[in-house]
Amino acid sequence: MHKENIRLSTGVSGLDEILNGGLIPRRTYLVRGGPGTGKTTLGFHYLISGVKNNDKSILITLTESQYKMKEDAENRGFAISNINFVDLSPSSNFIEESRDYDIFPVREVEQKPLIDQIINKIKEYKPDRVFFDGVTQLRYLSNDSFQFRRQILSLIQFAVDQKITLLLSSEVSKNNPDDDLQYMSDGVINFEYNNNRRIITISKFRGSDFLKGNHSMKIKENGINVYPKLVPKDQKFDYKDEAISSGILEIDDLLHGGIERGTTTVLSGPSGVGKTTLGIQFTKEASSRGERSVVYTFEESRETIIKRLDSIDIPVRKMVEKGTLCIEKVDPLEYTPHEFTHKIKQEVEENNTKIVMIDSVSGYKLAFENSNKNNEMVRNLHSLTEYLSNLGITVILVNEIANITGEFRVTELGISYMADNIVFLRYLEMQGELRKAIGVLKKRLSDFENSMREFKITSNGIKVGEPLIQLRGILTGNPEFVNSLKIGKS
Ligand SMILES: Nc1ncnc2c1ncn2[C@@H]1O[C@H](COP(=O)(O)OP(=O)(O)OP(=O)(O)O)[C@@H](O)[C@H]1O
Ligand SMILES: [Mg+2]
Repeated sequence: MHKENIRLSTGVSGLDEILNGGLIPRRTYLVRGGPGTGKTTLGFHYLISGVKNNDKSILITLTESQYKMKEDAENRGFAISNINFVDLSPSSNFIEESRDYDIFPVREVEQKPLIDQIINKIKEYKPDRVFFDGVTQLRYLSNDSFQFRRQILSLIQFAVDQKITLLLSSEVSKNNPDDDLQYMSDGVINFEYNNNRRIITISKFRGSDFLKGNHSMKIKENGINVYPKLVPKDQKFDYKDEAISSGILEIDDLLHGGIERGTTTVLSGPSGVGKTTLGIQFTKEASSRGERSVVYTFEESRETIIKRLDSIDIPVRKMVEKGTLCIEKVDPLEYTPHEFTHKIKQEVEENNTKIVMIDSVSGYKLAFENSNKNNEMVRNLHSLTEYLSNLGITVILVNEIANITGEFRVTELGISYMADNIVFLRYLEMQGELRKAIGVLKKRLSDFENSMREFKITSNGIKVGEPLIQLRGILTGNPEFVNSLKIGKS
């Protein structure tokens, strides 16, 4: 690799991704955020990743004592034993070492020696990576902001000379702006915590591109997890342009062959009509070709689905055991939309998955409850389907509609425009009986059959009948038979 292209990991893979690979070495970065937003935690990740990389790493603390910090880090299982601590917190005796204290008032004398002592410590350790936690505290120890800036600039200059990659943490509040620190840094990482959601953004990164916008973040036992916003790649991967068979002749006839690889199909219909079963029918066929599919279910449990499908002779359990099918129950309230997207991305990249099914879109929408914006949900889903489509992955979206019979609607959530194919299932009242029918409303890459067919779920799986050509008014939900002689089939 070209030397200039080498990046340093921040220790958080999602953050490295946002930074186009990581930090550019020998520069200064600012991580800023309010109390408890994760600044110190990021510092630990950064230094631990340094130690793994055989970089000498030191942590300078001006606020918390090193004992407290070490204890917290160890409780979280962070491997900090090879990190050197320089403790300048009020509880340490570092400051007292400067004897001037006894004689002069703090503000007047402390500043010069403190920054010098920091620099001396750094000289002594010769680190590659430095995390300076709570650098904003230096401001209170300075006579004025000019002096503060001069101190920071000299620290940054010194770090550059010593080939150090410096991470500074800044406590942000309305009353304490840190614009000066932002100007002086080569990159700025911002943490925010609102409405129980953590957000990370990059507002500056000299010499590099980065993923703009808000990315979601969580702090868990293992530390910080960042879920970058999905940006569909422009370039399309090479994949075979072919139709995927449903394994049921009549459905393939309706679709003039099946659904094409890399397209998005919306399966629309009222509750209980058989959308999940139909979707999994496609994954079953893929499984018989040895291709892996994954089904994210927001509604039913994995076991319910497996049992139900096994009972109608769709052998899901075997496919799950073989690993050609993964059914995963997702709790929408547990995930942020970006996190869920990230999960899918990981799944398809690691397992060479060919079909992704989401059951259902309304469940997916729940993950957006906090923002409660349909538009945002649709946008996110759109970039997800686009991303998957570029990889040649076939997407099946299950879309529940509210009305059982009566006036026909495909979707209430505004997702039909992102669908390449729309297959709908609906209930029909025919000769006093409630029956089901299947039809195709849209197909982008080929023609399709215009008539509907009867759709049945039997103990031997899905059965689809001949085209219902002698029915009129199907879309109203109250179809009536017309004289087949009059219609005729020319
Ligand atoms: N074991 C843990 N599991 C999950 N979250 C944790 C754990 N330990 C700490 N946290 C979370 O990490 C956050 C604190 O992170 P950190 O101390 O890095 O923030 P900070 O920005 O440095 O805060 P401060 O401004 O107080 O220095 C808190 O929100 C806390 O809830
Ligand atoms: Mg902290």
